[in-house]
Amino acid sequence: MRFGHFSDAAREYVITTPRTPYPWINYLGTEEYFGLISHTGGGYSFYRDARMRRLTRYRYNNVPTDVGGRYFYVNDDGDVWTPSWAPVQAELDHFEARHGLSYTVITGERNGLRIETLYLVPLGATAEIHRVRLTNTGATAKGVKLFSVLEFNLWNALDDQTNYQRNLSLAEVEVDGSTIYHKTEYRERRNHYAVHAVNAPISGYDTDRETFFGLYGGWNAPDAVVAGHCHNSIASGWSPIGAHQIDVALAPGEVRDLVFVLGYVENEPDAKWESPGVVNKAPARALLQRFSTSEQVDAAMAELRSYWDDLLSTFTVDSGDPRVDRMVNVWNPYQCMVTFNMSRSASYFETGIGRGMGFRDSNQDLLGFVHLVPDRARERILDIAATQLPDGSAYHQYQLLTKRGNHDIGSGFNDDPLWLIEGVAAYVSETGDLAILDEDVPFDNDPEDTGTLFEHLRRSFHHVLHNRGPHGLPLIGRADWNDCLNLNCFSETSGESFQTTENLAGGSAESVFIAGLFVHCAPVYAALAEAVRAPEEADGARRAAAAMSAVVLDHGWDGDWFVRAYDYFGNKVGSSECDEGKIYIEPQGFCVMAGIGVESGEAVRALDSVGKILDTDHGIMLLQPPYTTYHLELGEISTYPPGYKENGSIFCHSNPWVMIAETMVGRGDRAFAYWKKIAPTFREEISEVHRLEPYVYAQMIAGKDAPRHGEAKNSWLTGTAAWNFVAITQHILGVKPEMEGLRVQPCLPAEMTKVEVTRRCRGAQYRITVANRGEGGSPRLAVDGQPINGTLVPYGPAGSIVEITVDC
Ligand code: GLC
Ligand code: GLC
Repeated sequence: MRFGHFSDAAREYVITTPRTPYPWINYLGTEEYFGLISHTGGGYSFYRDARMRRLTRYRYNNVPTDVGGRYFYVNDDGDVWTPSWAPVQAELDHFEARHGLSYTVITGERNGLRIETLYLVPLGATAEIHRVRLTNTGATAKGVKLFSVLEFNLWNALDDQTNYQRNLSLAEVEVDGSTIYHKTEYRERRNHYAVHAVNAPISGYDTDRETFFGLYGGWNAPDAVVAGHCHNSIASGWSPIGAHQIDVALAPGEVRDLVFVLGYVENEPDAKWESPGVVNKAPARALLQRFSTSEQVDAAMAELRSYWDDLLSTFTVDSGDPRVDRMVNVWNPYQCMVTFNMSRSASYFETGIGRGMGFRDSNQDLLGFVHLVPDRARERILDIAATQLPDGSAYHQYQLLTKRGNHDIGSGFNDDPLWLIEGVAAYVSETGDLAILDEDVPFDNDPEDTGTLFEHLRRSFHHVLHNRGPHGLPLIGRADWNDCLNLNCFSETSGESFQTTENLAGGSAESVFIAGLFVHCAPVYAALAEAVRAPEEADGARRAAAAMSAVVLDHGWDGDWFVRAYDYFGNKVGSSECDEGKIYIEPQGFCVMAGIGVESGEAVRALDSVGKILDTDHGIMLLQPPYTTYHLELGEISTYPPGYKENGSIFCHSNPWVMIAETMVGRGDRAFAYWKKIAPTFREEISEVHRLEPYVYAQMIAGKDAPRHGEAKNSWLTGTAAWNFVAITQHILGVKPEMEGLRVQPCLPAEMTKVEVTRRCRGAQYRITVANRGEGGSPRLAVDGQPINGTLVPYGPAGSIVEITVDC
C-alpha cells in the first residue's frame, strides 16, 4: 500500500494523507543552518550543531509520536484547524505534503480556505522561510485569524531537557513590531539570538508559552487560538515561544502570501547591544530584508533548485525503470548529502544530543558524497585525520564544533583506521588531487606532532599489521564495524556501555572482517604509496595483503562460508560449530569484495550460503540463527531480541557489500535482486509493512525471526546510503572513478537491456551507452568510436566530452 507517490519531474515525494505509517520527514538546509520537518509540520531547527545551538524545541518519543514543530493555526469563525493536519487533527478537505530537495510544501484545505506553506532554508542564509499562501477557494468573502507558533529551545538541547531548576528562570525576549527576538543567555556569554518574524503587520503576539497555550491547554487546542486572540505576553523565565496573530480578509478567489522567517543571528562581542539591555538588531534587520517579499522567496527557491540541478548532474542514469532512476539520480545522492551533513546526529531516531561524528561512519559517508562536493570532502578528510592517534589507531568519534577526538568513547575499534584509507582513496580517485597526500596533518590535534596525510594512512595500515592475534588475523579490540560484537568486554552490569566499559586484559579476539577490509584496502593503499613515490611501501602492502588472504583461507574459512571472528577464548564466532550465530554477513561481503577466494572458489560458495541462509524477501539478514540468550562473551549483539538490530535484522548497511561481491563473481542478476529488496523506491508498494519513508534507506529492517519482519527503523542517517550508492552506480551500473581512469564495467541484470549513464569527473563529461545482451564475460568498450582493451577509460581533458559504448 502507498501513502503518496513520486513526482519525478519535480523531484518530490508527494504524500497524500496525513496518516502515514510513521512520520515521514525531510531536511531543510545544506550548509550551516538545518531543520528537520515531518509531513505534518513536526520537527525542529538548529545552527550547525544539533546539541549546542538548538533553535526550537522538540520532544522525542512523545504521545502522539510527532507533536511540536513550526505550526500555523486557523480560527475561522470559531472553527479551529491546522493546515498541516497536526496538531489539531481536524479533518481536511484536501491534504498534501511534498518533500523536495531541501524544502517541503504542506497544503491543507478546509471550508473554502486553502493554505500552502513552503518551508526552505535559502542558500547562504542562517534562517528558514515559511511562506504561507492563503487562497479563498470558496464563493464568499472570508475573514480568519491566522496564528504562527513555535517553541524556542534554550540553545543547549541536552541542558534544555534536564536542568529545569535553572532553565525555568532564564528566558528573555524582545518584541519589535512583527519581530520576536529570543535572547535567553544573550546577557552573558552568548552573542547569538533567534528571530521569528513575519513581513506583515500583526494584530497580536505571545512569547510566553503558558499564556498562549494555557497551563492545561495543549498543541491541539491552544487557549489563544480558541479564544481568537493573543495576549501580547512577554516571556520572563518559564518557556519562551514565538507566536504571531494576523487577521486575514480574503475575497473569493483572492490569494495572499505571508513570509515568516525564523533566523539565527550573531553579533560581534563588542557590538552586542543597541542600548543597555536592548539587543543590536541591525544584522537581524538585514537578514529579514533579504526575505521580506514573496518574490525574494521565489528567487531563493529557484537558486536552491539550480544548486541541486548542478549537483545531481554529476551522475545520471536512464535505465528504463523509474524506480532505479529516481533512486540513483535523486534520492540516494540526496540522502548521502544529508548523512554527510548530519553524520548520526539529528533524525527522528537520533536526538541530536548523542553521538559525535563517527570516525568510521564519516569515512564511509564520504564514499557516497565525494562526487557531489569534493572540496567539502577534502576538508572533512583532513578534520578526521587530525583526530587520529600517533600509533595509527583512532578515536571512535569526534566533535564537529571542536574537531577533537571524544575521550568518553576513546579508541580501540580496530577497523577504524582502515576506513580512512577507503575515504582518502575515494577522494583521490574522484579528483586526482594527489596534493592532499602531502598535507601536513596533526595527530590527536597536537600541532607539535604532525605528519603528511599519507603518513597517517601508513600508520593506519601498519596499525592493523602490528595488532594481530594467535591466528595472524587482526585483533578486534572493542569491536569492528559491528559495534555490538564486543568480544573482549564481558559486561555483567546493567546499563554499562558495551562500547566504553573496560575490556578484559589480554583480550586477543580476532576479526576476519577486519582481515577482509585490510585486503580490500591494500591495492588502493599501494597505489597511493606509489603516488607519493614509496614503491617499497607499495610492494610491502601487496605482500602483506597476499599473506593476509592466505591467513583468511587457512583460519577464516569454515567450509561453506567465511568465519566471522575468534572470541576471547579462541573459539569461532560465525561458524557451523556454533549453536547460534553460525553465519554472519560481514565477512562474506568484505572477503569477496577483497577478492579472497574468487579464483579458488570459496567466494562463490560463501555467496551461495548467503543466498540460502541469510536472504529473505526483505533483504539479507546480518546473521543466522539469531542469539536467543545473552552471551557474555559476545556482548551487545546478544542483547537484542532475535531479528532486531545487529542480532539478525536486515542491517541494510552491509547488504550492498554482498551486492558488490556478487558483481565480483559476475552475477549481476543476484546483485540487482538484492538491491531491489532494500531500495526504498521498490519497497514503496509495501509501505504499510516497511512503515518508514519510501524515498530514503533505513538502517535496519526487522529480520525473519522478529514478529514484525519487514518493518524498518532508523531512516536517513546510516552508512546504508553511501554503500548502496557505491553498489548500484560503481558495481552494478559499473562506472567507478579509479586513480588511473574511469572504470566502466557494468554487471547488469538481464532485465536491464539498455542503459545510459552520464558521469562528470575531473572536469570531463562521459556519456556511456550500454547494450546488455547477457553475454557475460568481459564487457567490450569503445571510446569515441575506437575499441579499447579492458575496461579502464583514460581520463579526458577538462571540458571534453567522451563517448563510451559498452557491449556486454
Ligand atoms: C551503526 C553505527 C556503525 C556501525 C553499525 C553496525 O550504524 O553507526 O558505526 O558500523 O551500526 O554496528
Ligand atoms: C548501539 C547500536 C549500534 C550502534 C552503536 C553506536 O549499540 O545498536 O547500531 O552502532 O550503538 O555506538
